[in-house]
Amino acid sequence: MSELSGRKILLAVTGGVSAYKSCYLTSLLVQAQADVEVIMTKAALEFVGVASFTALTKKRVHTDIFNPPNGINALHIYLADWADVVVIAPITANTLAKLACGLADNLLTATVLASRSPILLAPAMNVNMWENKVVQENVSRLKQAGMHFVGPQSGHLACGTSGTGRMAEPDEIFDAIADLLK
Ligand SMILES: Cc1cc2nc3c(=O)[nH]c(=O)nc-3n(C[C@H](O)[C@H](O)[C@H](O)COP(=O)(O)O)c2cc1C
Repeated sequence: MSELSGRKILLAVTGGVSAYKSCYLTSLLVQAQADVEVIMTKAALEFVGVASFTALTKKRVHTDIFNPPNGINALHIYLADWADVVVIAPITANTLAKLACGLADNLLTATVLASRSPILLAPAMNVNMWENKVVQENVSRLKQAGMHFVGPQSGHLACGTSGTGRMAEPDEIFDAIADLLK
């Protein structure tokens, strides 16, 4: 039996090109018999469709704090209480900044604020964005708040340049989740 079997994993996807890799991460988690719920931000929906994650998890994907499934009142509280771990892969510079400020302006950020579970962040962005002093200050602040990071790696970036900013590969994120849940 897999170490993640039966574990409740809330996977949140934000709006970056590497969102496509999160489909494979979802598949790895489902194959490991984890129980996976998916949140997508509005921007994430520009990069990958709900249908991919619905097909992989066999569950409804959550995109709107004001449109919960039947029987659930406050979806952000429900998901925060449900999850053994919250994983945001990829996490954009935008969502990193929101979390560093404690914003709760969408389903994802409200859920993170309401969560007492470990939170794992897999940043992905252009190298200049990643090296921006404000982004690095946000990363430090989130680390001080107890959030965990995996990546980013150095290598080819979707914007055509290379440098640090590439999202960790799904296998590496999978291992980081397993380590957090040990
Ligand atoms: C083609 C394209 C690619 C993008 N890739 C990234 C990215 O890899 N990382 C990032 O931080 N922002 C990226 N952005 C910008 C985000 O999509 C934008 O900041 C958005 O507001 C993020 O919203 P979210 O954090 O709510 O998902 C990209 C935008 C476009 C148009």
